[in-house]
Amino acid sequence: MPSSIDNAFDNTFDNTFNTAWDRRDTAATKWERYAGSDVLPFWVADMEFPSPPAVIAALHARIDHGIFGYTNVSDSLRQQVIEQMARDYDWQVAPEWLLWLPGVVPGLNVACRTLGEPGDGIITAVPIYHPFLEAPANAHRRRVDAHLALRGQRWEMDLEHVQTDIDARTRGFLLSNPHNPTGRVYTRPELLELAAFAERHDLILVSDEIHAGLILDPESRHLPIASLAPEIARRSITLMAPTKTYNMPGLGCAFAVIPDADLRRRFKAAGNGFLAHVGPLAITAAEAAYRHGGPWLQALLQRLRANRDRLQAAVNAMPGLTMTPVEATCLAWIDARALDVDDPHRFFEAAGVGLSPGAQFGSPGFVRFNFGCAPEMLEAGIRRMQTVL
Ligand SMILES: Cc1ncc(COP(=O)(O)O)c(C=O)c1O
Repeated sequence: MPSSIDNAFDNTFDNTFNTAWDRRDTAATKWERYAGSDVLPFWVADMEFPSPPAVIAALHARIDHGIFGYTNVSDSLRQQVIEQMARDYDWQVAPEWLLWLPGVVPGLNVACRTLGEPGDGIITAVPIYHPFLEAPANAHRRRVDAHLALRGQRWEMDLEHVQTDIDARTRGFLLSNPHNPTGRVYTRPELLELAAFAERHDLILVSDEIHAGLILDPESRHLPIASLAPEIARRSITLMAPTKTYNMPGLGCAFAVIPDADLRRRFKAAGNGFLAHVGPLAITAAEAAYRHGGPWLQALLQRLRANRDRLQAAVNAMPGLTMTPVEATCLAWIDARALDVDDPHRFFEAAGVGLSPGAQFGSPGFVRFNFGCAPEMLEAGIRRMQTVL
């Protein structure tokens, strides 16, 4: 496998997204788990592709300067984000609404500390990316689970059932949109229903939209819930980042959009003293990605769509497995409950396929497959699954 990025890019990005790059000498978290064994990693949500060429060039230039002191987020990055919100989502964001963070997960945890008092309740919709399951307890809040319901081929919110579990001390709702792990892109009616629910119960909406750039379904469009109406914006904390979209999650840079001044003040106070600064390389990478990453992103989305379709067709033909359509993200949520095995994650791992266990998301019996890789690696994973089944 080639390890150099020297020839990673051409006009079509064919090399970028079709080459099986070797990451094994980079201490990549995803690969180190299975170092020395013959397990291909399809777990943690980073992809097997080099970031956009403009990001790499900007990092080279910044590194050549040689001084890496504390660094402010530049006005140009701020402006870039504001323009992008207006262009992509028709969302007019005021500069003072933006607060910068070293990651979205720290943002989720600070948000939980912002909501009410210790002992108060915070809702999340299970299955869910595991930091959502942990963040309320980290902040000494009570987690209230609203289970997603599978209706036909679609995972949907089931707000009726959670009504009975909430009370006057329930303060917030942690939303993942697009949703990790189901790959759902919530529609306008779904988001409006959730917003009405939040209004009825006086909840703050904490909306993690880190996967917003990875919409695969041509019929789907990402809608920041806060962009739908000013009264929704007032009860919202939106968390976003360039790091998933442009495949640079190791260069932590994220931001919260908080339109309400009082909520913003509380969020700042809750994070005071323990949030790391965003580093200079992360800031440089974020700006280059937002400014110049468009053509790379379009080529990435084509690769992800093709991989999703290939995986969907393969899983459909595998006995005991079903996979719901993936509208966004590079993650497939596979139902393995009909397989006659105790632990589907261990079962596939023993066959050389390293998936994320559903139990981690609150749903044992499922596995999550990260298909953000070159076709060669995807085919190898599929072949191994077919063989063991
Ligand atoms: C929904 C969601 N939020 C947040 C993160 C991680 O965010 P960060 O690395 O910025 O903390 C992930 C990573 O997989 C994710 O899927």
